Order: sequence, then structure tokens, then C-alpha cells
Amino acid sequence: MVKNHCIKTKKDSLHIFVFGATGDLAHKKLFPSLFNLYRNMRLDKDIEIFAIGRRDYTDSSFEATLTPFIKAALVHDHIKEEELTKFFLKIHYLNLDFQNIGDMKKIKAMSDSDCISQIFYLAVPPAFYAIISKNLETVGLNKQCEEHNTFSRIVLEKPFGTDLKSAESLNKVLLAGFEERQIYRIDHYLGKEPVQNIFSFRFANNIFENIWSNKYIDSIQIQLLEDIGIEQRGAFYDATGVIIDVFQNHILQMLAILTMNKPKVFDEDHIRYEKNSLISKISIIDTIKGQYEGYKEEQNVDPQSNRDTFVAMKLHINSRRWKGIPVYIKTGKMLDMKKTIISVVFKNIKKELFRGQFNGDILSFIIQPDLGIKLNFAGKVPGMDYQITDIQMEYKYSDYFGELKSEYEKLLTDCILGNQMNFTRTDEIESSWRIVDKIEKEVKDKKPLMYKQNSSGPKEAQDLIKKDNRYWIL
Ligand code: BG6
Repeated sequence: MVKNHCIKTKKDSLHIFVFGATGDLAHKKLFPSLFNLYRNMRLDKDIEIFAIGRRDYTDSSFEATLTPFIKAALVHDHIKEEELTKFFLKIHYLNLDFQNIGDMKKIKAMSDSDCISQIFYLAVPPAFYAIISKNLETVGLNKQCEEHNTFSRIVLEKPFGTDLKSAESLNKVLLAGFEERQIYRIDHYLGKEPVQNIFSFRFANNIFENIWSNKYIDSIQIQLLEDIGIEQRGAFYDATGVIIDVFQNHILQMLAILTMNKPKVFDEDHIRYEKNSLISKISIIDTIKGQYEGYKEEQNVDPQSNRDTFVAMKLHINSRRWKGIPVYIKTGKMLDMKKTIISVVFKNIKKELFRGQFNGDILSFIIQPDLGIKLNFAGKVPGMDYQITDIQMEYKYSDYFGELKSEYEKLLTDCILGNQMNFTRTDEIESSWRIVDKIEKEVKDKKPLMYKQNSSGPKEAQDLIKKDNRYWIL
């Protein structure tokens, strides 16, 4: 336990330090979420936000650059000017260099006389995670005070590492200064309501959990389809690719939640234990790597690049429950739609008894854009003749609930409350890299299959599933 012994405490105060405050992530996601949390009074602590950057801003010039981003992110909400004014009183811009230990000491000095809870949010390129973590430790900002129950937490964005080795060494650096319960590794998919809802759908309803195995399930699909390209992230993307950008984290996490065993207790330790145990049982059967036409001409991309902007895969989960059940994955950029959907296809048992066209019992979790759950099942076509056809039952979030909180708002709240359920643990991260390293090794030097922009990806992705007599469900 990294302890602090302090004399005075302001235990209802919270200082949030945003490293990389002038960057895209901070402007587009973090500050709008903090603003929303603040104005809706869900930050019940006395909060101060310190925006740390190297640019030469003052409080008011930083405020001026930030304002249009907050307004754009919350364009459908009615933002009152006085709410913004109040919020900006809480933001203090600090022109500091986090690599410089002298500057880090200045941060430490700000809270030296009081014992205050602190969150360090690293919205910086991942290459800086280790140095920031080390510097926080050197100046003692990793310490928590048990006596006054104040905390120090570090929040890191993805990608966490570039391969298993780098993830392990980053974990080592972090764990030298912080305990696991102080480390919050963000995967914004875990902040999405329909992803969190998979837990309750599975474990709070008996009807499906009892048939959640290879005895009744035929196959599983996860598709994370994007109609955008790499935007202004050429250098990052060309060093990363879709497998590391979204499969290593978002897709593996969704798969783990969908297929993990029931945790003994519904808490962060048991859930993360089960997720890790599932992830470590995954093996890859087939991989199709693609690249959209025109990718090589994107800014900051190598004109000879073999980088993957699309991948389709077939996986297995080596457990008794899932033995023999194929899991199909499809994800890519510049496709013909924006949609994230998970489909569970049930075995079609009595189809031969009936006439008619029927696709089977299919349960789909629609993560976006039309959040909800769909169940496709057989129904009788009205008439004298006994024919069956596809019928759909549908649950839409919009029919039941109002505006949902943004993923970042939810995850920030969790971090403030100390709930790590929706953050990935050291073992999960390392298990996922073990799989990804294998895939990367296999496909890295392969020439990608080219596909047209605004299409459904390379034809071979259709063949991958077609040869098993199945099809992609949308
Ligand atoms: C991010 C990836 O983690 O997820 C992006 O870096 C991707 O490349 C994004 O576009 C997708 O998130 P969402 O919530 O829009 O599906």
C-alpha cells in the first residue's frame, strides 16, 4: 500500500489533472463529459480541474478554445452560458512539461498542505504513459491516505501497449508506483449502455442463460463496422491497424462479456477474473486482412503500407461450454455503414417439420446506432396453410429511456466513485495481447485484400462465413 501520512485533509475535495489537455481527446470527449457531470451536479465533491499542456495558454484563452468543442459535443443539449462560466471557474490551465520532474514537483506542491483525492488522467500519446507514471511516483503523487480515505488514481487511454512485451513492461512501471486498484485502463466500449446491459440480460434472466452453450447455440458474430476512414490519424493508424485499434480491446471485451462464465459475485474482481479466463481460451482459426482503396494516399501513411483497415476472423473458445462453436468477427473502416452488432445464432432444430422461409432463432444486441436487442424467431404465416416465416421482437432503448449518458461521463463517474468493473485489469490486457501478437505475427507481412470504400469489405470476408453455410447478420 502506497501510503501518505497527512495532517490536514479536505476529504470532499477532488483534483483532476488532465495531462494532454490541449489534445483532441481532451477537447472532444473529456472536457464535454466533465462539464456535463459538473452541471448536472453529479460531481458531488468540491472539484478543481487542472488542464496540463505545453501550449502557452492562459485560463481565458484555454477557455476560448474549449468552448466550441463543448458546445459541439453537446449540440442537442441546451447549454446555458452561465453554466459554462461556472464550469470554467473550476478549470485552471497549467503550462507544464510532465517529463520534467521540476514541473511535476509543482503539481505536488499544490496539494502538499492538504490531503486531497486526486485523479491523473493521461490523455497523451501512449508513449508517454511510462514517464508520467514514473514521475508521479518520484514526487509522491501516487500516495493515498488511508486515514482520511483520500485516493490517488491514474487513468490511461487505449491502446495500452503495442504488443505483449510493451504492455507487460508498461504494467510493470505502473504497478511499481500504483496498486491495481488505483489504475483505470479505459476502454470506452465498456461505458456503453448496451454493452453493460449484456451482464443483466444474461445473468438476471433465467431464460437465456440456461441455453447459453454449444448445446443450443450454433455460432456467434461480432461486427464493428465503421463508415469513416482514419480521419487525421494517419501516423497513428499506420503504426496500429484495425486489429490493435479495435479488436484487441473493444471486440475482445464484448466477446468476453457475452461468453464468460457467471461470476460468483457481481463485483469488479469476479467479473474481471471471468473475463480474463475467457479471453485466455480464445484461439484463431482463420483471418482475412483487408485495406480500403485509397488508404495508401491518406496523409502520413506509408505509400507501400500493408496495414489492415479491415479484418474478418473465425475464432474458437477452448472451453467445454463453447467447444466447436465458431465465433465470427468482422470490423473495418470505410465500410457501407456504421453499426456495432453482436448476434447469437441458435441451433435450428425443428425446421424440417415446417414449410416456409425461416432464418433461425437469432438474438442480436445492437450496440449502435439504434441501441437495443432484437430476437428473430419463427412464426406462423396466417392462413389455411401451415407455413412459417421470420418474426422479430424488438427492444429499443429509445422506447424506454431518455437521453443516455456518454460513455466518458459514465466511466469518469466510475473512476471518481472507485468502481473498476468497467476498466480492464493487468491480466485481461496481457491475455488479449497474447492473442493479438499471434494474429499480428501471422498477418503482418501479408498483402491486404483491397476493398472499395463504401462497400461491405473484401469478398473473401463473405467466403469466410459462407463456406460454413452461414452469413453475416445485420
Ligand atoms: C476507437 C478507435 O477506440 O474506437 C477508433 O480508436 C474507432 O478508430 C472508435 O473509430 C470506434 O468507437 P465507436 O464508439 O464510434 O464505435
